[in-house]
Amino acid sequence: MNILVVGSVLKDVYLNLDSRTEQFETDENGVKWLDFSFDASEHRFFSREPSLGGAAVTLEVLSKMGIKTAITGSKLKMEDGDLTSDVEAAAYRYILVTDGRPSYIVPTEYKETIFATPDDFYDYIYIDRSAKLEPETVNRINSYLDLSHNTKLVLYLRTLDDQVLNQLVARANLVFCEGSKDDSEKTSVLESMGLDENKIIYITENKMSYLGIEENVAVGRIDVLTHLSAYSIASATILGGFILGNSVEDSLRMARVNMENARLNSVLSIEELKEISENMDPGEDLELVAANLVLKPKGILAADESGGSIKKKFAQLGIEDTYENRRDYRNIFLSTTDLEKYVNGVILFDETARQQADDGQNFVDYLISRRIIPGVKVDQGLENFENSLETYTKGLDGLAERLKEYYRMGLRFAKWRAAFEIHLNEAGDAITPSERAIDENCRILAEYAKNCQSAGLVPIVEPEVVYDGYYSIEKSTEVTAKILDRLFVSLADFGVNLRACILKCNMVIAGKQFGSSSPDEVGRATSTVLKEHVPEDLAGIVFLSGGQTVEQATDNLAEIIKNGPYPWPVTFSFARALQDPALFTWKGDNNNTEAAKEAFKNRLIANTDALK
Ligand code: 13P
Repeated sequence: MNILVVGSVLKDVYLNLDSRTEQFETDENGVKWLDFSFDASEHRFFSREPSLGGAAVTLEVLSKMGIKTAITGSKLKMEDGDLTSDVEAAAYRYILVTDGRPSYIVPTEYKETIFATPDDFYDYIYIDRSAKLEPETVNRINSYLDLSHNTKLVLYLRTLDDQVLNQLVARANLVFCEGSKDDSEKTSVLESMGLDENKIIYITENKMSYLGIEENVAVGRIDVLTHLSAYSIASATILGGFILGNSVEDSLRMARVNMENARLNSVLSIEELKEISENMDPGEDLELVAANLVLKPKGILAADESGGSIKKKFAQLGIEDTYENRRDYRNIFLSTTDLEKYVNGVILFDETARQQADDGQNFVDYLISRRIIPGVKVDQGLENFENSLETYTKGLDGLAERLKEYYRMGLRFAKWRAAFEIHLNEAGDAITPSERAIDENCRILAEYAKNCQSAGLVPIVEPEVVYDGYYSIEKSTEVTAKILDRLFVSLADFGVNLRACILKCNMVIAGKQFGSSSPDEVGRATSTVLKEHVPEDLAGIVFLSGGQTVEQATDNLAEIIKNGPYPWPVTFSFARALQDPALFTWKGDNNNTEAAKEAFKNRLIANTDALK
């Protein structure tokens, strides 16, 4: 079995730009501009990595799957698992990477792809994504196929506008089409060119579909996706899978494994692909999502205040509590430029998850397009125990069904909050939270978490000791520790996978009415409680701000970080401490939206700085 790749080998030099020091401008379309005027200013990058791109990636993927592969007009080969590097490239490019997004400085137009009619027989001709074909080259490919009846043609179409490439569509045995299968217009255009629908494989950077079978890439691998060739990895792996006789399911699965695990200049071997695919259980998606939610130095935005909380907030400022106003308010945060630089995920409220961004996309898709993981609050608020001031959290009824819908909507994590107030008796002992409230809420949290994991969502469990009341930091330490101990017993009882679970925790701090705790005290107390009461295999810990002032929350976060290192990533998931300044700036008037976004951005910067 051998395959001839028609495509261009490119020489790529990756420069990883430091977007925190570079002065990016953003235009009205949200496009980032960096003025490379080459005056005396300096530009900083983290790393410089030369590599071979374009058809070289396709060759690497197929060769590592054990398929004999050559590239037209190139001497490039795999030798001992490495690509020979002294090849002539069709173009030389600088790839500037910022926040996982590539842009290109291309010194010269890259040359047309060469195709000399081969003397040998090839089982497949694969026209790669990097191919740049002249009409005459297409004629030569057509002539070769006319002569060599048994050679199969596979085509990668980036667009449907390439008049030259389109001439080959009708005789292709398989076509990779960039886009989604829901785009029925594409299917009908291809059919009108004479292609059967069952020969089209749809491909995007996070989904592949063929013959009604779909495979999602759990989390876009930024390090691979910066590579022009993430698509080449996916398409070449699928093709390799078919050539080696694998089923559609297995081939798509292997492609996904390669996309999720490949690194620049090192894609997976067939043995690795098979082993990972076969041993992959659904839990691994969740672990990957959980890990990506707590990647440093970013946090999670909690924009999930319930209808009731929003109503109160709006009432304070005389803002009318309408559907439109709530959308406009959430939109301030979700559409802030560079949000993806500061947060890995956003927790939405159900209503927001069904509302639209300015461009008409719903907020969930909009966040995904910005590489922010969307999540949703799924608890339904607090209810008093009978004859008690203590509360438990509602929402288990119908939860499994709701989670299924959320998964289908594209949400990948959830949040559930339990609240515990500390009240002391005359002797200074805590009368609340009671054993019953702790037991019951921890059991509910664990049941919720298990439900999430079964539905493909990462649970954030939030047992909050409310920062309100008259109690010392020592009491806060004692109560927080006790709740955490109980919570992890419950999570274990329910068989929750901690590697796919995130704890949202209060900072350990004296009650608001007791007098303020210094950042130093909060840092030390919180660090000690976490280190002693949280198992090491948890995916991560995020903090709520709990009604502290914005500066207090940030200063305390910085101190907690200073008291590390920790066995898990530790970051923020604030609502009030990130949003309040923007709310007070906006005041319900959309003329203030830009200023409100600025106020929000300042909190994002301050809190990500606190993580460093
Ligand atoms: P605060 O940061 O305002 O406490 O909110 C976090 C949160 O999500 C509470 O459930």
